[in-house]
Amino acid sequence: MPDSGPAAAEAPSGWAGYYRTTADRPPRRTVLTALAELRRPPGPVPAQAVDLGCGGGRDTAALLDAGCAVLAIDRAAEAGAALRARFPAAWQEGRLTFRRADFSSGGLDLPAACLVNAGFCLPSCPPDRFGGLWSAIAEAVVPGGFFAGHLYGPNDGWARRGDRLTIHDRGAVEALLADWEPLLFEEEETDSVTPRGEAKHWHIFHIVAGKPA
Ligand SMILES: C[S@@+](CC[C@H](N)C(=O)[O-])C[C@H]1O[C@@H](n2cnc3c(N)ncnc32)[C@H](O)[C@@H]1O
Repeated sequence: MPDSGPAAAEAPSGWAGYYRTTADRPPRRTVLTALAELRRPPGPVPAQAVDLGCGGGRDTAALLDAGCAVLAIDRAAEAGAALRARFPAAWQEGRLTFRRADFSSGGLDLPAACLVNAGFCLPSCPPDRFGGLWSAIAEAVVPGGFFAGHLYGPNDGWARRGDRLTIHDRGAVEALLADWEPLLFEEEETDSVTPRGEAKHWHIFHIVAGKPA
């Protein structure tokens, strides 16, 4: 059951309430699945990870617990404030870095990473920018590393809202992952209420995919 849900094209301000609402929720299965695989030898040592659209740090928590250095990226300033308050030790040690950036604007310049995580955020990238974003992700993941995240399908309640979300049907997701080794690839359709209290039909792809070594 999904429990996330941005008004994805919403202005960067206004996320603080969402981050508070989701602060106690456990990391998502996608990031946990990727981390479990990374811990299994002979996988790469979990060193550098990237958390795109990190929000309040729901998945960042799992990445830090696993021993990763984390570059957390979000366009909302509130995300940086939330991370700083939630993970003071990692922040002070420099093991957690926040970059305020719009991942759809190009020139992301990601570090080489054993895991690029993107929980419930990539669909907010406009369609004409998605290819560049996906290339940046694919380039950043080291051979043997992983991508973990979510995409929305055509039956999603937000698919026809006209706010320039990128929507993928199953074939398009498969094409995206053609050069990857899927570890988790689940399609889910369900009705639920978002953390903002909006009733919604979800059509989600839950994805963990490995870059061949
Ligand atoms: C639904 S929240 C998910 C937060 C977190 N990843 C999670 O799984 O709980 C989406 C997050 O993505 C961020 N976001 C959306 N579009 C973005 C963009 N183009 N660039 C950077 N961050 C973005 C939002 O600011 C928000 O914090």
